[in-house]
Amino acid sequence: MKKVICPGSFDPVTVGHLDIIRRASKMFDHVVVGVLNNVLKTPSFSTEERISLLEKSLSGLDNVEVVGFDGLLAQYAKDNDITAIVKGLRAVSDFEYEFQQALTNNKLNPELETVFLTSGSEYMYLSSSMVKQVASLGGDISAFVPECVHDEIIKRLK
Ligand code: PNS
Repeated sequence: MKKVICPGSFDPVTVGHLDIIRRASKMFDHVVVGVLNNVLKTPSFSTEERISLLEKSLSGLDNVEVVGFDGLLAQYAKDNDITAIVKGLRAVSDFEYEFQQALTNNKLNPELETVFLTSGSEYMYLSSSMVKQVASLGGDISAFVPECVHDEIIKRLK
């Protein structure tokens, strides 16, 4: 069984994230969406909130599960029989950092490959930090986040 992980902060989930996860769920048997519980960063949404927003947004995708993880991604993958990381690439500016992470993860766990999916052209500009900025300034984020969790995100960010 090909089990992969889509890791990220998801602070909060965007429609761009959903696009990558949905496409990964068609390519692989099982997709683990890994929400980083980073003790060094203070996210706007708690790990539990980010997991809940993702679960609501992904309901109906039977081969996708959402988990929180901390520590090294390469170790989490090894411990959970995950053979690949799936990441979305938006623009050339993403590439250098993603390339560095992919090589580091492969060095730490040589069985672990990274697969890049190009972002959908309609999501190339989109990021969680942009969503947070627009929402906190009273802008309309309905095109940026899943409809079913839009009100929850707005309520939290305003
Ligand atoms: O959505 P983000 O913040 O770009 O996601 C980054 C993430 C979670 C994929 C990355 O920070 C990560 O894998 N963190 C776990 C710690 C780790 O394994 N670090 C070493 C390899 S980069």
